[in-house]
Amino acid sequence: MSIIEVSHLTKDYGHGRGVFDVSINVNKGECVGFLGPNGAGKTTTIRHLMGFSKPQKGTTAILGKDSWVHAARLQNTVGYLPGEIALPAGITGTGFLKMMKQMRRIQDDSYCQMLLDKFELDPNIGTKQMSLGVKRKLAVVTAFMHDPDILILDEPTSGLDPIMQQIFIDYIVSEKKRGKTIFLSSHIFHEVDATCDRIAIIKDGKIVSHFIADELKERSDKVYRVTFKDEESYRKFTELPYQFASKNPGKLRARVHVHDEKVNQLISDIVKLNIEDFHEFPFTLEDYFMQFYREDRIFEGVK
Ligand SMILES: Nc1ncnc2c1ncn2[C@@H]1O[C@H](COP(=O)(O)OP(=O)(O)OP(=O)(O)O)[C@@H](O)[C@H]1O
Ligand SMILES: [Mg+2]
Repeated sequence: MSIIEVSHLTKDYGHGRGVFDVSINVNKGECVGFLGPNGAGKTTTIRHLMGFSKPQKGTTAILGKDSWVHAARLQNTVGYLPGEIALPAGITGTGFLKMMKQMRRIQDDSYCQMLLDKFELDPNIGTKQMSLGVKRKLAVVTAFMHDPDILILDEPTSGLDPIMQQIFIDYIVSEKKRGKTIFLSSHIFHEVDATCDRIAIIKDGKIVSHFIADELKERSDKVYRVTFKDEESYRKFTELPYQFASKNPGKLRARVHVHDEKVNQLISDIVKLNIEDFHEFPFTLEDYFMQFYREDRIFEGVK
């Protein structure tokens, strides 16, 4: 049984906005990343999973329990880090943590104290006076203070400085080793690359790609950038039937996507032309992800 399950979730906000027939699951002990550009539908999916919103179609469930039906219970047990932090005013961070501890009936303070030390958070100031980073840290500590088995994190490192981001990533990796089940949304390739076993990419409310991180890294195709000395060479090259990642007539430069077995063909084609420069770029997760930010797909084959 999947621990986290989104099944054919649809929420249509009109004008093409929302999520449409989204299905994704997270098995026990897995970390799954949810990547996608702004407005793609990450938060909408996560809010349904947490039971804050009722699906128009489809279901979301945690530990086999429908999120909407069991919202109160799962909001109390799952470690949830919202994308936007709304803290109550007129209270200090310490007061807020105390309130959350009472709500969750936490007796042992040691795990919370460990988190405060790890994230270097001094919660003894009013929530109104907190900088964005301090608010985010407080939300992180609040999400994890009861040492939950299931973590659902919406862009967890946004607002954290690079050192804190790394501390957070290390923490997620160590929590995964402790057997936690994690679903996180992100824009940061390095973050998902370092933490996730599987990655789903969402765009315009639909899952457009879903893959196992290690399998993608083993791909043997590369991008080559070729710069030409004259316009005629550039034109002849860009008319060849290659899969072009980009064309830049101003700089007489093109990027082409080539599988390993076709590299010899590429070289025999370009040596006939007047080349200025030839450069190889290894495949990266970032390249793969970037294609979904651009309108036209560059890479094919992994879906
Ligand atoms: N309550 C709502 N009413 C109407 N439209 C909404 C509502 N919530 C979200 N949307 C729209 O649904 C789409 C998906 O939004 P969502 O917040 O899920 O995106 P996201 O992937 O989390 O983006 P970001 O990376 O910017 O956080 C957006 O076009 C957004 O404007
Ligand atoms: Mg969001």
